[in-house]
Amino acid sequence: MKIFLIILGLGLYASAPAFADSDKGDIKIGKTLHDKSCIACHASKFGEDGSKMYTRADHKVTSKQQLGSRVKTCNNNVGAGWFPEEEAHVAAYLNATYYHLK
Ligand code: HEC
Repeated sequence: MKIFLIILGLGLYASAPAFADSDKGDIKIGKTLHDKSCIACHASKFGEDGSKMYTRADHKVTSKQQLGSRVKTCNNNVGAGWFPEEEAHVAAYLNATYYHLK
């Protein structure tokens, strides 16, 4: 029985995605979270609403996976303390608004 639970636990751990999945997020919730925790710093570098961070010619994110891991990294750096679902909301918002990655 114990062994079974350990195997089950490992299975769940392994199936947790390593990046926030923008397909599973809610765009509206993501916008609220993003505007609260993420704009100020990007805006201090690029002015206005900071969205040039996402649209500048040499921006870094070019796949959904990169977007998801970048949101995760920024969340951790900033200490916003988001849960994976919340990271997915923000990734969904950024993809729908700026990146349009398939
Ligand atoms: C303390 C400053 C700061 C805060 C706060 C911050 N970021 Fe960033 N972010 C940066 C910097 C600097 C870069 C550019 C890094 C680079 O060019 O490699 C960046 C880049 C990004 C990118 C990649 C843009 C691209 O395509 O090149 C994404 C996505 C992003 N941030 C999301 C977020 C999210 C989501 C939050 C809120 C949790 C956030 N950031 C908060 C500083 C910040």
